[in-house]
Amino acid sequence: MTNAELSTMVDTSDEWIVERTGIRERRILKGEGLGTSHMAAEAVKGLLEKTGTHPHEIDVLVCATITPDMIIPSTANLICDAVGMRHIGSFDVQAACSGFVYGLDIISQYIETGRAKKAILVGGDKMSSILDFKDRTTCILFGDAAAAVLLEPSNTGRGVRDIELHSDGAGMQHIHQKAGGSRMPASAASVEQRLHYLYLNGPAVFRAATEHMSASVREIVSRNDLTLGEIDWFVPHQANKRIIEAIADRVGIPHDKVMLTLEKFGNTTAATIPLCLWDYESRLKEGDKLVFAAFGGGYTWGSALVEWAYDGAAAAKKGMQARPLSQIPAE
Ligand code: UT7
Repeated sequence: MTNAELSTMVDTSDEWIVERTGIRERRILKGEGLGTSHMAAEAVKGLLEKTGTHPHEIDVLVCATITPDMIIPSTANLICDAVGMRHIGSFDVQAACSGFVYGLDIISQYIETGRAKKAILVGGDKMSSILDFKDRTTCILFGDAAAAVLLEPSNTGRGVRDIELHSDGAGMQHIHQKAGGSRMPASAASVEQRLHYLYLNGPAVFRAATEHMSASVREIVSRNDLTLGEIDWFVPHQANKRIIEAIADRVGIPHDKVMLTLEKFGNTTAATIPLCLWDYESRLKEGDKLVFAAFGGGYTWGSALVEWAYDGAAAAKKGMQARPLSQIPAE
């Protein structure tokens, strides 16, 4: 969906959206009855194929989302069913736009402790399902997407090196969806009053996101005895190009080291960071130091320091030495 299409629905313009957010277009999931698990299952299937991994080799799958297909069961359960992962542990994580970093903190510990040999984290959101396409202050910002990563033990010492997380429930007043939860179950009145849509106080969130993400990036770099000059890639949550550039300028990261995909996808909530990794994979080299940073509803925020463990160019080119699924013994 382009900015031009949106300008036929609400009082906005391509010029305003590009100048204030950097977004030019976003993807909208079409098709009756399709939810977040549909996109997430496609991402997981692609990941299994690309890495030559059989579904039976996966020990645990976590899905970060705020737009689950249903309240019960979890979207992770539905993804596993769709891709043929039978009886493994799977569950959802809800930390809004920080969901991928929160999920990474959980899932990397399965690998570090040896409780899992292969684990999948998928970030996915069908944001169009909670957007009010009559509200120009929110509907122009978001898009639908899912993207997934596979984690496995590394014998080089590379991988997820550190993660720090924060939350502040007082931020609820600035980002929330009023109805549909246990405080205000769905009713004819809640639908009529349009309370099932995302509410966002943009300027308040803009300020908080810039301040907290900057502090978190500084903290994770300094507590690992690194300097910002040693960071190869900054992978920020993609909410607004102005937020991303303000953080880069504040902490001193050159713009050419910043991953940016929001121009074509908008803010895809839990999917933004893995979508960046997918988009930039061919430029990633073994040993590159990456800092992920996210901020979102809750408030929640945090960052991760990751040392890239494989040659992204070769992986993107060779399809990760993909073994045909048929050559991998079934369970
Ligand atoms: O993922 C984590 C959650 N989300 C975020 O991090 C989003 C953070 N916030 C933002 O990205 C920005 O605050 C927005 C993009 C949402 C808004 O940009 P802003 O520069 O903060 O604009 P504003 O809300 O202060 O509004 C400025 C003007 C207002 O008009 P008046 O009152 O000055 O006459 C708005 O009504 O722009 C108007 N406006 C629009 N005009 C055209 C607001 N939305 C639109 C629009 N098109 N879509």
